[in-house]
Amino acid sequence: MAPSRVLLVFVFIPAELLLGSGSSKCVGRNFGHDSVACECNSTYCDSVGSVTLPPLGQYSTYLSSVAGSRLEAGRGRVQAQTNGTGSGLRLTVASYQKYQRIRGFGGAMTDAAAINILSLSAGAQEQLLRQYFSSEGIGYSVVRVPMASCDFSTRLYTYADAPGDYDLDNFMLAPEDTNMKIPLLQRAGAMSPRPLSLLASAWSAPAWMKTNGALTGKGSLKGQPGGKEHKAWARYYVRFLEEYAKYNLTFWALTTGNEPTAGRMTNYSFQALGFTPEEQRDWVALDLGPALHASSHPRTHVLILDDNRLLLPYWAKVVLGDVHAGRYIHGVAVHWYMDSFIPAGISLGTTHRLYPEYYLFGTEACAGWSPADRGVKLGSWERAEQYAHDIIEDLNHYVVGWTDWNLALDRTGGPNWVKNFVDSPVIVDVERDIFYKQPTFYSVAHFSKFLWAESQRVGVSASGATPLEFTAFVRPDASAVLIVLNRSSAEIQFEVWDPAVGYIPATAPARSLLTIAWNTR
Ligand SMILES: *[C@@H]1O[C@H](CO)[C@@H](O)[C@H](O)[C@H]1NC(C)=O
Ligand SMILES: *[C@@H]1O[C@H](CO)[C@@H](O)[C@H](O)[C@H]1NC(C)=O
Ligand SMILES: *[C@@H]1O[C@H](CO)[C@@H](O)[C@H](O)[C@H]1NC(C)=O
Ligand SMILES: *[C@@H]1O[C@H](CO)[C@@H](O)[C@H](O)[C@H]1NC(C)=O
Ligand SMILES: *[C@@H]1O[C@H](CO)[C@@H](O)[C@H](O)[C@H]1NC(C)=O
Repeated sequence: MAPSRVLLVFVFIPAELLLGSGSSKCVGRNFGHDSVACECNSTYCDSVGSVTLPPLGQYSTYLSSVAGSRLEAGRGRVQAQTNGTGSGLRLTVASYQKYQRIRGFGGAMTDAAAINILSLSAGAQEQLLRQYFSSEGIGYSVVRVPMASCDFSTRLYTYADAPGDYDLDNFMLAPEDTNMKIPLLQRAGAMSPRPLSLLASAWSAPAWMKTNGALTGKGSLKGQPGGKEHKAWARYYVRFLEEYAKYNLTFWALTTGNEPTAGRMTNYSFQALGFTPEEQRDWVALDLGPALHASSHPRTHVLILDDNRLLLPYWAKVVLGDVHAGRYIHGVAVHWYMDSFIPAGISLGTTHRLYPEYYLFGTEACAGWSPADRGVKLGSWERAEQYAHDIIEDLNHYVVGWTDWNLALDRTGGPNWVKNFVDSPVIVDVERDIFYKQPTFYSVAHFSKFLWAESQRVGVSASGATPLEFTAFVRPDASAVLIVLNRSSAEIQFEVWDPAVGYIPATAPARSLLTIAWNTR
């Protein structure tokens, strides 16, 4: 035993004494899965409150676990000894090794999400939005907004369905926008402590612009890049930005279209628009880029791909390798489906190495999508682990933000007009006017609430082999944040060593997620 160990004074103050009235406990409900979902209603919802940084010399911890902890707060004193605490494993933070800066975290305001949120009473709606967007919430700052319908809609539509309307004279937002998504985005923006970063993605062009004359199935734009359909489709994006701007909603970014490979599959069952990387490259260079540049929204970022990382780095090489397209592009958007088959290093890592001036951004992820594990599973901790594993892996491979899919779904995982039901961090039960916060909600929160915009990833390494997964950041105020995922089923003790301040003793309980924050100056 190291002599220093005897001198250690651990100061653990119960969370209730430290947190103001802003904090409250999860009302856990067990649905027969491995953990609980937290029930919220119009008058009650658990919250960790707004978190403040502890004074120099102390650290804060937030723990969620399969056993039922949900962002459970704790504090302790950083140990200023030169030697460690004597536990075997040490995570050393190397703040001088600097990587990418965070842009933000969020979810998608699909038609389905809007329908579910608005199906609740006014009080419960307010609670739900506050959970994501207010300063007591989990820090969401990104909202992906589908342009017109997708599978999570109750009908098929675009904003320009009148055949041959090349000038988009009849372009019009849908009731889904004006009555549901826009009012909700305005409310979310009003309660957010900082401006929301809105991100637009289109699923399909109007049928008349497409080779197959339909919103679904295998089809792409008629003609060639530079041609009248490709120009009209670029103009459609500009019109969308203009129409939303009339409601004071301006977009940080748009993608070149959701999952371009879907529209190249025979008989694809829902809205899609096929692009090859070559066609995407030329459409951006000849049509979308110039149209945006000449519009009243020239600073809107353009993100390519918006599809699974298995297409990287090939897709990026074709599109970003072309200077005519590349000058209009800011980043590469990735979805998480099938990530387990494609190592992050050879996809994300290689893309970053080849094109470091373009950022990587996660634009879609959801649990319950695979045929083997379908739909809503209330209280699944295993799915919280899927999220945290993916977020850590992405962050450790240069991704600057991560966007969940539907902000809220119903008990069946819909509505979805093709019954492509999946899970969501918030599941609404209209009959009881309540909503459940799933383990995945807390999983995102361990990152989204603590990694503010402009937080910079720094180096962190383990002293030996460990099942722990982790990532470390220094925030703009110079405080440090370490997030540790333990997917194994035994508790393990470890210590964090930040040469700037000292040692932090820590324990990662079985199947847990831990965020540790400390002041460095
Ligand atoms: C809301 O939930 C809280 C905590 O479970 C409960 O005490 C309260 O009665 C509920 N309110 C309504 C309106 O159901
Ligand atoms: C630190 O630990 C090493 C080996 O465990 C020991 O030799 C050394 O005396 C210790 N130093 C202090 C300052 O405790
Ligand atoms: C947009 O914002 C401006 C200035 O804040 C305000 O005057 C105007 O009423 C807003 N318009 C809408 C449609 O919300
Ligand atoms: C396409 O899909 C639909 C519904 O999924 C099915 O009814 C139809 O037979 C399929 N057509 C082809 C050519 O596979
Ligand atoms: C994580 O939990 C597993 C199972 O409880 C345990 O074996 C492992 O040591 C823990 N890891 C850490 C670093 O705490």
